[in-house]
Formats: sequence, C-alpha cells, structure tokens
Amino acid sequence: MKIAILGYGTVGKGLVEMIDSNKGKRNIEIASILVRDKNKYKSSKYEHLITEDIEEVFNKEFDILVELIGGLNPAYKYIKRALESKINVVTANKDMLAEYGDKLVKIAKENNVSLRFEASVGGGIPVLKPLIESLEGNLIESMYAILNGTTNYILSKMYDENLSYEEVLKEAQELGFAEANPESDVQGYDAARKLSILSTLAYDRRVYWKDFYLEGISNIDRKDIYYAKKLGCKIKLVGQSKLNDKKVSGFVRPVLVDNNSLLSRIDNEYNIVVFNVDSVGEVSFVGKGAGKEPTGSAAYADVIDIFDKRVCNIDSFTKEKIEVEKIINHNCEALLRFKSPKKDKIIELINDCVYEHEVIDSNEEELAVMVSVDSEHEINNVLCFINNKGYCKECTRLIIII
Ligand code: NAP
Ligand code: HSE
Repeated sequence: MKIAILGYGTVGKGLVEMIDSNKGKRNIEIASILVRDKNKYKSSKYEHLITEDIEEVFNKEFDILVELIGGLNPAYKYIKRALESKINVVTANKDMLAEYGDKLVKIAKENNVSLRFEASVGGGIPVLKPLIESLEGNLIESMYAILNGTTNYILSKMYDENLSYEEVLKEAQELGFAEANPESDVQGYDAARKLSILSTLAYDRRVYWKDFYLEGISNIDRKDIYYAKKLGCKIKLVGQSKLNDKKVSGFVRPVLVDNNSLLSRIDNEYNIVVFNVDSVGEVSFVGKGAGKEPTGSAAYADVIDIFDKRVCNIDSFTKEKIEVEKIINHNCEALLRFKSPKKDKIIELINDCVYEHEVIDSNEEELAVMVSVDSEHEINNVLCFINNKGYCKECTRLIIII
C-alpha cells in the first residue's frame, strides 16, 4: 500500500501521524511528500521523502495521491494528472470539490479510479460516507449545519470570554483551524462550499456554492453578543438548505440560535450536520470540524477505504445544476439594529409595515428592534423604505432560528 502526499501542513502531518500510529495494523508506505519549502522540514523524520518537485512525486510508483495542499491551483492540475494516470485520489480540498467536483468525478469515472474527500466536510466527522451509503434509499428533505470550525471557535470565544474578533481569529490560525486565507472562513465561503458538497450528494443534483445566500461573521461585534445574551440566544454561522420540488433554497449566515437548541450546544471548533430524512426523521453528526488529528483521521479512513476496494457513488456531482433560492420564504423573526437613526420615524414605519415588533434597546447611538415577519421580503421592503426616506443608512439584521 503506497501513497504520495501533496502538502505537509496541518492535515498532512495529521495523516502521517495516523499512518505511523497504525503501523502493524495497516502498513501504508509513503513514497514522497510534496511541499513548497523543504528547508522547513530539515530535521523532520521524513526529510528523506520530502521534495519541492512534483515530477519527483510522479516519477515514483504509488497507488493513491493524497492532495492536502489546498486551493485550486496547482492542486487541480495535480489531481487531474493523477486521475488521468489511473491513480486514485484522496483530498481534503472543499474549494476544489465545490468548484470542479463535476469535472473531477467525470475524469475519475472515465479512468475507473476512486476520488474520496471525507475530510473536506466536517473535519473528523464521518458524514459523507453515512450520507452516501447508510442513508441510501432515503429522501433527504433538508439539512442545517455548523460547518466551519474557525468561525464557531471565534463566536464561542467572543461569547464566553468576551474576547474581540481579531484576537480570537489569530488564536484559531495558530491552532491550525483557519484556511491559508482566513477570508474563506470568516466570509462564509468555506461553509458554503461544504454545504454545497453535502447538498449535491443529498439532493442528487449539483448545487453550486455561490448560489446560496452568503454572509460571513466579520461584522459581528460585541453589541451583537450583548443582544444575543439578552435574548437568551447564541450567535452561530449556520448553513441551511432545503429541497423544494425543482429548486433548492439555502443560505450560510450568522443567526441567533436559542440557548435550548441543539445548535447552541456546538461550541469551539466542533461542527454539526443535521439531515431531515423521510423515513428516519432527524439524523445528526457532531464532532471536531477542524485541526490536525480529526482531519488526518478522515483522510486516513479514505485511504483505507480505497485499499480495501470500498467504492462509493458520487455521481451527483455530474448531474445538472439546480436553481437555488436565497430568500427565507416563510415566517421568521429577526433582530434589526439601526445605527444613528431617526428612531421615532423608524418605529412608526415598522409599526405600519410589520405584523409584530418589540423594541429591545433604544439609545443615542442605536435602535434595536425584534420583528416578526411572514418572509424575509418584508424585512427587505421595510429596510428599503427606511433607507429611501433617509431615516438611517446603516442597518444590520440577525435572523433567529429556534
Ligand atoms: P496548511 O497547513 O497551510 O498546509 C499546506 C501544505 O501544502 C504545506 O505543507 C505547504 O508547503 C504545501 N503547499 C502549499 N502550496 C503548495 C504548492 N503550490 N506546491 C507544493 N506544496 C504546497 O494547510 P492545511 O490546513 O493542512 O489544509 C490542507 C487542505 O486541507 C486544504 O484544502 C484545507 O482546506 C483542507 N482542510 C483543512 C483542515 C484544517 O483543519 N486545517 C480541515 C479540513 C480540510 P510548506 O509546508 O512548504 O508551506
Ligand atoms: N478552515 C476550516 C474550518 C478547516 O475552520 O472549518 C476545516 O475544513
């Protein structure tokens, strides 16, 4: 059993440690390890296998290429080359699957080799395999999830320890949770890519990540946390998608979750995925969504599955793209915050347009109102009126999920 590994960072090291600790049980030989700068690995145990030259990697014999570099380029080129050379591929790269999953699955099929990517969603949580195999034959109607460890870690620390966004982001990077470019985490792109992978497999149609409503956590401030506590809630970056006949609706956005809800109990780098399944009801998967050991474990399991010739059907990636609705089209509640507003005018307008509202805070600096609406369109209309009348230029909203 011989593999070549591209990338020896957080996940690469996690995988190699897992291979080492399982020697005797499963003997996996490492043919080579590709890195950008081999000087960093001078005294490493595997220094003799480390190279900066991809040709050196492909010149050796191996059965599986494990891609743990990240990003689209040159990772796409390397994965494509391996598949076309009839070499199986394991990857943790959700950017790649979300963008080029259709092309890569097609190439893998044409060449009769496997492409596995358990580590790309939910870190160490085995979720793709149960979704593809154990829930086969069921109709997945909807899902909701916390899919990004970095942002969940940041929001948890802001809530529990009153730390600032910037301080905690730095900590999450040091712990190896964040992407090379943490914009992907904090702007919600990473969670949207993972939600698109899950939705594609669950609904058997290609769901493209950029089609979801997408909002990150970079604007969440201490005052949002203050309101969340006052309302008996936490703030979480949540992904949700639902199959509605010929369309999917979905979003990734920060939301208020009730302190008694399942989502509110998922803190730090932990992730959760909950599927609503026709014959089983709610099925949930919880665990560490980022970090060396959890992700190394998921990549290791993929390698073993390929060696043990367990195949899984990922044809959904090659299916037609399905339309995605971004707006919440049902009853919802939201906290609206208006900065430097004409307070009385805004309350008057909200009173005229919205079914139910409650003022949560009203001071010199801002007005915070909880509204109850039939759909998010109503909120958009009120905010449009307020903006056009010049009552307030800056408003933020946080939807509540029970
Ligand atoms: P990382 O710590 O930044 O490591 C990346 C590794 O790839 C480094 O060894 C780097 O070399 C090497 N590399 C980068 N660009 C390269 C290039 N052009 N040519 C050759 N080598 C290159 O990243 P990571 O956190 O392990 O993430 C790897 C992948 O796993 C990404 O797709 C990420 O999204 C995904 N993932 C990460 C986690 C997590 O918790 N970190 C969890 C799930 C999935 P140097 O060492 O020389 O810089
Ligand atoms: N940056 C990602 C996260 C790594 O924080 O969830 C795991 O995919």
